[in-house]
Amino acid sequence: MNKNFYITTPIYYPSAKPHMGHAYSSIIADFFARFKRIDGFNVNFLTGTDEHGLKIQRAAEDKKIEPLKFCDEISQTFRDLSKTLNLTNTDFIRTTEKRHKLSVEALWKELKKNGEIYLSKYSGWYSVSDEAFYSDNEIEDFEGNKQAITSKSKVEWVDEESYFFRLSKWEKPLLDYYNNNPDFISPSSRKNEVISFVKSGLKDLSVSRKSFSWGIKVPDDKDHVIYVWLDALTNYLSAINYPNTDDSLYQKFWPANIHLIGKDILRFHAIYWPAFLLAAKIPLPKKVYGHGWILSGEEKMSKSKGNILDPIEIVNQYGIDPLRYYLIKEVSFGNDGNISQERLEDCINSDLANNFGNLCQRVTAFTIKNCDSKIPSQVRFENEDLKILDNFKLNLDLIRKKIDNQDINFYIDFIVNSLFEANKYFNDQEPWNKKEDLLRLNTIIYTTLEIVRKISFMLYPIIPESALKALKIFQINEKQIEFATLENHNYLKKNSNIKKIEILFKKIEKKND
Ligand code: MSP
Repeated sequence: MNKNFYITTPIYYPSAKPHMGHAYSSIIADFFARFKRIDGFNVNFLTGTDEHGLKIQRAAEDKKIEPLKFCDEISQTFRDLSKTLNLTNTDFIRTTEKRHKLSVEALWKELKKNGEIYLSKYSGWYSVSDEAFYSDNEIEDFEGNKQAITSKSKVEWVDEESYFFRLSKWEKPLLDYYNNNPDFISPSSRKNEVISFVKSGLKDLSVSRKSFSWGIKVPDDKDHVIYVWLDALTNYLSAINYPNTDDSLYQKFWPANIHLIGKDILRFHAIYWPAFLLAAKIPLPKKVYGHGWILSGEEKMSKSKGNILDPIEIVNQYGIDPLRYYLIKEVSFGNDGNISQERLEDCINSDLANNFGNLCQRVTAFTIKNCDSKIPSQVRFENEDLKILDNFKLNLDLIRKKIDNQDINFYIDFIVNSLFEANKYFNDQEPWNKKEDLLRLNTIIYTTLEIVRKISFMLYPIIPESALKALKIFQINEKQIEFATLENHNYLKKNSNIKKIEILFKKIEKKND
């Protein structure tokens, strides 16, 4: 079995500071990366910044700063955000790096060599905000201007010499590919929109611009810069040292397992990117997953709409784990989701403080007082103990399968139910009334501790910091977290000491409580 796993986030435009939508893509990717790691995979997890193009050039001009200097500053805020969000990315790529430039040039040359690129003239609409070309039927009038129907971003007319990529030629091969690889575009609800777009006829794609300079120059024609999406998409390859296909990173990690993106950039990832790769005879990534949007009110959160919940402010106020948990649990994965501070606070109080934190505190306090601070050594499992323990064992492969289908909702529901069952078990079994029957008392405590261990392992990809704090009860460290051990009911070392831990989550006092 291939135990390598390559996951990518979109690379972010450093045109403004990071917002919740960016944090969302990254947190979800980190969830998968961490899960795969505890399931024994060697994980390459890539994120970074997309620094070329007219959008960035204009943003830098507005600030009267050199584009590279402008990017240096904002790219650093994205790098810092990775730390704030506790991401385990193994690389952070900037498209202004030399390794990336070499890779983009190599891909261009390959496409050119294969006869996939030709010189002509582009006359049509362009949105700088989306860095996308639009045809007449994708444009509408708005307050005297023209805008793209899907993104509502302003478009401008472009009339200039341009290199074109023979996208039209790949219409049929793409449709065949989607057909033969039904999971390539996920979730399946997004597949149809891509297929119908391709079926409506693909036109050759303009892949260079002449009227500005901030980008990677076309090899052998320095008057042109390479279209920023061709440049940006190549980051997935440049980070693993393409064109050096003998390189061990390339060997281990290409094709990528999943490009995780927002649904607004599906066209670039599910049409242009596979077409470029087919044309360059490079294997295609296994999956492109387009998640939904984080909404504030009913609108997409975005800078131009001024409705941004700042992830850094939220982390400063509540901590990173509550934010991670909230986004993963409350936004039904694949769909759009509304977020609010009110619901975040509810989540902290009910799920994290009451259900998880409290269970950890109760069972450790009880063990310290009644079991000499030791994991009980004499136990005899009864049916009710086995029932709750077996729930993990029996579902291990199912959970793996769900994760491979990006069914995060299943994963989190499993945890929420397990927490509910664990609290119920502890209350129903009433260990405090079993002081005359030490074997039973010990068995209940052992079982509850084992459940806390199992749930903490499962929570680790979602709330790593808190799960690790909880695992200090058993002196289990990060390296020892292995998903496969959830099969084992006798994992905890009998008779070893357990440790008191700090309060995991402080309850938020709500104004209307
Ligand atoms: N630079 C391109 C991606 C190039 S990938 C080769 C880009 N950058 S972006 O900064 O505008 O957006 C990055 C990601 O953030 C996209 O996947 C986008 O969907 C996501 N989000 C931006 N706003 C969002 C929300 N409000 N909600 C969820 N995600 C959204 O596009």
